[in-house]
Amino acid sequence: MPENEKKQCMVIFQPSGRRGNVDEGINLKQASRLLGVDIEGICGDAGTCGKCKVRIEDGFFQKYGVESKRSNLSPLTESEKDVINTHMESEGYRLACQAKVLGDVVVFVPEESRMGKQIVRKAATERKFDIKPAVRKYYVKLTPASLHDALGDWERLQSELNKQFGLTNLSIDYPTLLSLQENVRKGEWAVTISIWMGKEVIRVEPGLVEKGYGFAVDIGTTTVAGYLCELATGTIAATESMMNPQVIYGEDVMSRITYCMVHEDGLQRLNEAIIKGLNDLAGRAAAQAHLKRSDITDMVLVGNTCMHHLVLNLPPQYIGRSPFAPAVHHSVNVKARDMGIKLSPGAYVHVLPILAGFVGADTAGVLIAEAPYEHDEMQLVIDIGTNGELVLGNSKRLATCSCATGPALEGAEIKFGMRAAPGAIEKIKIDKETKEARFKIIGMDEWNTELAEVGAKGICGSAIIDVVPELYIAGIIDHTGRFRKDVNTQRLRNTDDGPEFVIAWAKETSIGQDIVICQKDVRNIQLAKAALYAGGKIMMRRLGVEKLDKVVLAGAFGSHIDKESAACLAIFPDCDMSKVYSVGNAAGDGARIALLNIDKREEADRVSRQVEHVELTLEADFEKMFGQAMWLPHMKDDFPHIKHLLPEKPKMKIAKGYA
Ligand code: FES
Repeated sequence: MPENEKKQCMVIFQPSGRRGNVDEGINLKQASRLLGVDIEGICGDAGTCGKCKVRIEDGFFQKYGVESKRSNLSPLTESEKDVINTHMESEGYRLACQAKVLGDVVVFVPEESRMGKQIVRKAATERKFDIKPAVRKYYVKLTPASLHDALGDWERLQSELNKQFGLTNLSIDYPTLLSLQENVRKGEWAVTISIWMGKEVIRVEPGLVEKGYGFAVDIGTTTVAGYLCELATGTIAATESMMNPQVIYGEDVMSRITYCMVHEDGLQRLNEAIIKGLNDLAGRAAAQAHLKRSDITDMVLVGNTCMHHLVLNLPPQYIGRSPFAPAVHHSVNVKARDMGIKLSPGAYVHVLPILAGFVGADTAGVLIAEAPYEHDEMQLVIDIGTNGELVLGNSKRLATCSCATGPALEGAEIKFGMRAAPGAIEKIKIDKETKEARFKIIGMDEWNTELAEVGAKGICGSAIIDVVPELYIAGIIDHTGRFRKDVNTQRLRNTDDGPEFVIAWAKETSIGQDIVICQKDVRNIQLAKAALYAGGKIMMRRLGVEKLDKVVLAGAFGSHIDKESAACLAIFPDCDMSKVYSVGNAAGDGARIALLNIDKREEADRVSRQVEHVELTLEADFEKMFGQAMWLPHMKDDFPHIKHLLPEKPKMKIAKGYA
């Protein structure tokens, strides 16, 4: 290395995944700026505000080929010692503005240190269902114990619950029993009792407490969304979301399964990461509603099969290989405390059932939220996520499959991809004639062309679904997804890594560089859309369905997807556009419904056992159908309902094997 050249160190920021080589000796805050990661700070990097705390991950990260060590940073400075206590230090926390890079490091930026917190796009939608929660409250007045009547408090309570509410055969949770006498006396012999499933007393509160709360959580591979609900009314008291903290161990389910298989403590690390994340999420949701986490007496979780196993601390390796058998199909009830989840001490966690293989509890949530089994029309429900899950059917028959879409549609593995946060481009339009791009960023109603200051940072999922069909319709990429060479616009340029198209010029961004879509991005988006399309087609064939009556698009950004973009990208086969709906986070809605209605929990178990599972990898022609679906919009299929939006189909010679 020439003398004046500095040693280069690899710095990887999580959960954004932004990474790059930086000069040895710069601090992590400077590195974050260079790599387009925004870390909080209000003291001008003086090391006094403590807002730029980050956590250094220890160990070898196979995915990046990097050995991350705390000793690859300069020692703790005096100002850090004032802000980072010994416990935090032992957990690997540092101030980004103080820690200098001396070697390779993986740096986790906690939610509170991220500038521009993530926007909750997994917003709960309005759905009608009866309220019949698992946990109900009962207000009971007891006759005070006396020398003539020294019956035990528990027996006294049981008898009163029987007399007033006809409740029999009750048991009491042990920690609840421990505080029973104190609470009864604190309430002067009047208490509010929380009873789970009509059989177990799980909380005793002094006096009258009218409201009880539950927390419904959708654990996505990339995003986790939680809904804090009032159990008696179903009212949503708070909505919170976070990045799944497991992303540092792998962006998709297979890489997380592999992590568990090759590291002795892999499962423990992944389990602890999500449990800690859920505790934080519940704490934030409770604080938002001016409550304590201990006020939450019930919880429902949904997630794909891998997330389900990891949160329950079940080894995921058997679901990662044939015959893909999970540890349990049926729904599970576990004490929250046994999982390390810190709610009301007696609270239970209900985990919805798994359908099959990789079709997990999130699809069970989608099923009870959309209930295709209650209708005659043939409906395709697509839950778009890092792991795409599809349900096709009606009141007569239901089929499901899962496909590895990869994280591209959620903004990961896209050069300038980002989560749905302030500054993210959420909508893109490209003019067919001039090839000029316009975009909207989250939080702004105007297009970039109408703003004096734009400040784009990256591209999030909904715009990622826009961009490929827009490039295709504008004639900038061809049917195969390749950038065309005969297009005359300064936005299309060649680089050492291949062609790229500029969406936002550097002056329109807050990261000081052009935001582009490159050839690899287009390919990743094609791979994701082809997997979903081929999955849908194979299920249609299995059920003997010629045409779809209805398409429901669900997912982390479902309510923000432009359904015409999704149709032109050909995520699903042709359908009347008036029968295509974006419903938002149906899996999360399903979790909320199960939290508030125990009959729906039973329904989820029952319907999950009736669904036919289609294992795509066992279909002999899956590869061929996938290859056909890689084309824009498709190599062979027609789309009469969106024909007016698409360019003329060229006469092309189709390679042997794909026809
Ligand atoms: S920016 Fe204030 S402590 Fe780092």
